[in-house]
Amino acid sequence: MIKSGDEIRQAYLDFFKSKGHLILDSAPLVPKNDPSLLWINAGMAPFKPYFDGSLEPPKKRIATSQKCIRTNDIENVGKTARHHTYFEMLGNFSFGDYFKEEAITWGWEFVTEVLELDPDKLWITIYEEDEEAFKIWHDKVGLPEEKIVRMGKKENFWQIGTGPCGPCSEIHYDRGVEAGDSEEDVLGGEGDRYLEIWNLVFTQYNYTEAGEYRELPNKNIDTGMGLERVASILQETETNFETDLIKPIIDQVVEMTGIPYRQDEESVTAYRVIADHIRSASVAISDGALPSNEGRGYVIRRLIRRAARYGRKLGFEKPFLYKLVEKTAEIVKGVAPDLKKQLAHVKNVLKSEEESFLKTLEQGLNILEDMLSNLKSENREVLAGKEAFRLYDTYGFPLDLTEDIAAEAGIKVDEKGFEKEMAAQRKRAREAREETSFSRGEVEKIYAEFKDQIEEDNFTGYHSLKEKTEVIGLLQDNQKVKKLTKGEKGDLILAKTPFYAESGGQIGDEGIIKNDNFKVEVTNTVKKAEVFVHQVEVKEGSIEVGTEVEAVVYHNRRQATARHHSATHLLHKALKEVLGEHVNQSGSLVAPDRLRFDFTHFSALTEEELETIERKVNQAVMENYQVETEVKAIDEAKKMGATALFGEKYGEEVRVVKMGDFSMELCGGTHVEATGDIGAFKIISESGIAAGVRRIEAVTGEYALDYFNSRLELLEQTAAELKTEPDNLLQRVKQLQKEQKDLEKELEALKQKLAGSKKDELLDQLQQIEGVNLLTAELEDLDNSALRNLNDQLKDKVDSAVIVLASKGDNKVIFVASVTEDLIAKGFKAGDIISKVARTAGGGGGGRPDMAQAGGSKPEKTTEALAEVEKIVREIAG
Ligand code: ALA
Repeated sequence: MIKSGDEIRQAYLDFFKSKGHLILDSAPLVPKNDPSLLWINAGMAPFKPYFDGSLEPPKKRIATSQKCIRTNDIENVGKTARHHTYFEMLGNFSFGDYFKEEAITWGWEFVTEVLELDPDKLWITIYEEDEEAFKIWHDKVGLPEEKIVRMGKKENFWQIGTGPCGPCSEIHYDRGVEAGDSEEDVLGGEGDRYLEIWNLVFTQYNYTEAGEYRELPNKNIDTGMGLERVASILQETETNFETDLIKPIIDQVVEMTGIPYRQDEESVTAYRVIADHIRSASVAISDGALPSNEGRGYVIRRLIRRAARYGRKLGFEKPFLYKLVEKTAEIVKGVAPDLKKQLAHVKNVLKSEEESFLKTLEQGLNILEDMLSNLKSENREVLAGKEAFRLYDTYGFPLDLTEDIAAEAGIKVDEKGFEKEMAAQRKRAREAREETSFSRGEVEKIYAEFKDQIEEDNFTGYHSLKEKTEVIGLLQDNQKVKKLTKGEKGDLILAKTPFYAESGGQIGDEGIIKNDNFKVEVTNTVKKAEVFVHQVEVKEGSIEVGTEVEAVVYHNRRQATARHHSATHLLHKALKEVLGEHVNQSGSLVAPDRLRFDFTHFSALTEEELETIERKVNQAVMENYQVETEVKAIDEAKKMGATALFGEKYGEEVRVVKMGDFSMELCGGTHVEATGDIGAFKIISESGIAAGVRRIEAVTGEYALDYFNSRLELLEQTAAELKTEPDNLLQRVKQLQKEQKDLEKELEALKQKLAGSKKDELLDQLQQIEGVNLLTAELEDLDNSALRNLNDQLKDKVDSAVIVLASKGDNKVIFVASVTEDLIAKGFKAGDIISKVARTAGGGGGGRPDMAQAGGSKPEKTTEALAEVEKIVREIAG
């Protein structure tokens, strides 16, 4: 019998394979080319262009198991039985192929015959006006009328934002009254009794930005079955959290804390939150997301912080989330195999993020304590909503935590004010999202129209940089035009093109398109709806659709770009050899004059590592490996051991770029013929760009030569300036440094001497306050040690005194205080005195009772600060 999560997924994919579906891997969680989505949030999301017709699917029937993230209900996760931020959606799709009848009858067949769910426990909902769906359920499947429940648009019309949508029909499972008998335990209700397991969407509209439902060119099918839900039914668990898809993580945490899962409501919530969030955060990170302060990164950050916070409730004081990644990888390997390969990276990111959160938490605690003590000193009892929100927003302090701590100090938090701030932030976030969301369909469709007119394999630029061809389209501001004339800019589409369009990090080609009557300059080439679009400016004459032209790519620029592209492959391989297999490309830029390569690795590279890497690349250049490319089926390419990029979605067929036995990568870019063409390779910088991600910038060919030469020139100039030869430069600099140090020492000694001679003058300033000897003095430009020295000398001269000296500099002032033993016994403490004094001068500090030092940023307040000392002495003595 089918029971485990892995078995259910396999059975589903096998079933739809037998119904003629192409089975594809799950797309990465980070959407490609879809600014309207933060995360892939449904099985259909990666296929939006297939639904709206802007791209051709590889097959009209596809089925997948898709990893998904939805965070709109994050606050409910852990508190209910079925809210998750991460889940797996099983889906079968038809792009203009089969429609309602197959979708419904196959759905029924799968749940009743393959999963063997009891038909008596299954209920169906349909959209109230969908007679067709009713007939199929009633006449074809043979369900009685009362089992087919009609519902309104809210329940049975599926849409998320803009894009493909339509009426839907859902299959529900009745878990019996034991599971719940509240008002919500009805079909479509929020209770736990009826579980919606499968949503069949009859996708026939495109919901546009303008709020219109436009008929799609095809009738499509989009279905989504929640794997965790089905598992909970087959495994007869109370909630999804006890299934084999989540429970092993909870078990591991229980083992670590020793607190039973069901100790109380709090423990249950904490374990569930941690198990859910570790799934979403770790899979998202393995797909290329990283914690940050905005957008996707902020979601990751929130997930980690929320999980870390619940961890503290269970008694964790140190980072622990990273310890759960192995178990998580094991559970999700059937849908997210990359997590296993990226273990070290994901663990590192989680650990450092949790560490920095714990630090932030501590900072937040200090700030909250300050807020509370200020309120108390003003006799106020309520902490403003704004303040509580600032703690939440900047320090990740949830309201309940702030309330708990405030309550201990007898202070309440203005919850309403907090909610108001929260609502305002949500609104800002929503507006920001709306600004960037557009239906790719609208613009892309205009370009997609040209696809039929374009010749098969219309990109000829792998082998030639020149092509005789025809202009098939001209556009300005996404509108078709007939003609472009001198001085105008626009987009130009060719039947065939040698111009490489920007992709895979490699920038687009530039060049010339011309005939006897006109000349246009191509300033960039990009892809829109998979059509190569030349962005042009007309230099001479005018150009019309239908004209025969010659298209010529700038050769030097292309060749320089190819050098940098081929060098990134060598670099990628060298990094793996020197640093380890965990190194993976996370981004790149390939331009004519430089390359930038981002990769996963946790620590800064040492000089030695960088040198070894650079040497390896240059050795591969000198080996002059032939660069060979081949088009292969993706599975075969992977079997051959070609390096694929994580978080990248590949088609059925891929291009494999091989450089001798040294490197083999999937890549669509343009390359040199043999590695020797790269000429030379030089790393010019290495830096960190995010937790666990490093960046190398490098140059090749003539740009490497330029780089060497400019460095040499700098060396020559510096040597000349220091009146020596480059060969003796180091020695000369060392000599100068030594001379400087000697001078500094001399200067210091002189200053001390000067200060010493001031001693007697200062002793005259000794005053008596309430019977206590007090000496305060303002000096200038002494450093810490000189000031301390002077203070010691003064202390030696008097038997009993409080001495506070200040020395003013340009933007700061430093203080040194000392107190003799007899006065310490009377309650005078140098540390206490100096901390008050420094505060007045805009700083802080402290120290021992006999000796303390501090600094401030407001030298202009020095006199005022020193005047404090007298007050303090009076207070204590009096
Ligand atoms: N796209 C549909 C859903 O997410 C199947 O429910």
